[in-house]
Amino acid sequence: MCGIIAYYGDELAAPILLEGLKRLEYRGYDSAGIVTIDSKSEFQIKKDIGKVLEIHERLNLMDLEGTTGIAHTRWATHGGVTRENAHPQISNNNKIAVIHNGIIENYKELKAKLISEGFQFSSETDTEVVPNLIEYWMRIRGLDFVHAVFNSFQSLEGNFALVVLDRDSKTIVGSKNGSPLVLGIGQNNDFFLASDIPAFLDKTKDVVYLYDGDTVIITGSSGAKRSYEILDFRTGNPVDRLIQSVSWDIEHAAKGEFDHFMLKEISEQVETIQSAASQDREKIQDIIQRIKKARGVFLIGCGSSFHACLSASYLFSKLASFHVNAVLASEFSAYEDFLKEDTLVIAVTQSGETIDVLDAIKTAKQKGCQIVSIVNVMGSSATQFADESLFLNVGPEVSVLSTKTYTAQLAVLTLLAFSLAGKYEEGLRRLKYLWNIVYNLTAESMRIRIKQLADELSSHDHIFVLGRGSLYATALEAALKIKEVSYIHAEAFAGGELKHGPISLIGKGTPCIVFVSKDTESKILSNAMEVKSRGGYLIGVGSHKIDTFDEFVKVPESEELNPISQIIPIQILSYQLAVILGHDPDRPRNLAKSVTVR
Ligand code: G6P
Repeated sequence: MCGIIAYYGDELAAPILLEGLKRLEYRGYDSAGIVTIDSKSEFQIKKDIGKVLEIHERLNLMDLEGTTGIAHTRWATHGGVTRENAHPQISNNNKIAVIHNGIIENYKELKAKLISEGFQFSSETDTEVVPNLIEYWMRIRGLDFVHAVFNSFQSLEGNFALVVLDRDSKTIVGSKNGSPLVLGIGQNNDFFLASDIPAFLDKTKDVVYLYDGDTVIITGSSGAKRSYEILDFRTGNPVDRLIQSVSWDIEHAAKGEFDHFMLKEISEQVETIQSAASQDREKIQDIIQRIKKARGVFLIGCGSSFHACLSASYLFSKLASFHVNAVLASEFSAYEDFLKEDTLVIAVTQSGETIDVLDAIKTAKQKGCQIVSIVNVMGSSATQFADESLFLNVGPEVSVLSTKTYTAQLAVLTLLAFSLAGKYEEGLRRLKYLWNIVYNLTAESMRIRIKQLADELSSHDHIFVLGRGSLYATALEAALKIKEVSYIHAEAFAGGELKHGPISLIGKGTPCIVFVSKDTESKILSNAMEVKSRGGYLIGVGSHKIDTFDEFVKVPESEELNPISQIIPIQILSYQLAVILGHDPDRPRNLAKSVTVR
């Protein structure tokens, strides 16, 4: 997983590429690089390890000449974090530059073949075979640049989004095969290619969503002569794709008054839960019919999206007496034998690009299943495979941690559960009314209150989280939020499971967050007592304070909607813990927002 941005036009490329890199950094932030073509038709390259702004401070990425260039921010997969392994990767003859997101699985064979042809390699990456393969087809086999690219791409196995820059013909080629890539069409007949729309959203809202196999060729150096065409690299045939306008604004992709995107996105939930609930009623009814007709419904996702699936599985059962299987997308292949043509798979994914989710969708498609996707990113791969898609409508989420998209997923799934129970209007009304509660939960006063709690908890090595029913899924999500950004070990248990082992971990002062709702109160409070009587330190989250609690965070009772509201204080707690402990909340170590490797 990495971020790609390319520019082809009349403006200076470097500032545009640098801005794009900053917006794509959530996709990878261990190294970055830019290459442009200068007035003498030479490459100007700067790359290094570190975050984009650190590299910019060291190397000044703005002073690269030229109006054409490509840039990359890396999350290492093949090869460690070194300058040599950073992209762009350049061909031996210094004429072809490549940036890449994904994995080329057969790179070892290709590398061996190229070495036998006299090529040398300076990085440990899989990517470096690509510029050299293209050079091979051009220099040794006499093809022109575009044909050399097509021949090279046809020999690659694995998932990739690749952008190639040819120095001599000043041509950019970008291709998508399993990893995201979108084309932006600027106002001045200039062009952008990027892993994600926010990378160029300050320049244009006109985009072409690319499908697997689509290969964009951008040529013609100046003004009106510049043009693009799209061919399928597998067949060489032209492909017709619509130019569409996105509704997202650039403000969505900027931090504004907030110190971090994570806090901004937590605060946006007052509106985003509303926009997620504002779905086309006919589409909802169509999906409800698909659910009713299906023999077997799976809800699949990874990370936070899986927690949304698990939470919804309780709701479907409770509200609509309907059984759905919530399954981790990475484990879905184990259920393959249960898939029939009348099975429905609902894929829940913020990015629509998580490879484990796409693999599961492909498995289900092969078995003839119907696919519905619940996605934030329009045009993403999950939507391309799905028979029907619902969008979260919450704008881009930039922080690596899922916050507003998690509650938006819950809002959409809750609306589906109510609709399945024949209570669409009630579901919609209750979701719309929730803003009242969310407004208070995201207010300054709540942040101050939670900061005190974070100060107390920041010195602990372990935090446990308990919930029952759908709040068990909330507990899992809370523990994930805390550990991924604060690096404090946090672990969730279903309240009833505590006595079956985990209770041995509770000692004097062990912090334990307990989610309480009206329907789980009596049982979860018995579990809380079990913790308390072993010296544990209880932090209750619920509608009223109980004497047993050492700390209490008030979240008004919202019944079926509790999972949406109760997670919010813990999102804030996770954020505060990260800040207190000196971690970057938007870019936690080792993580990336969209995981496109298995
Ligand atoms: C990554 C992110 C998580 C996210 C998961 C699933 O691991 O760091 O925050 O929940 O992927 O992503 P998706 O885009 O499929 O929802």
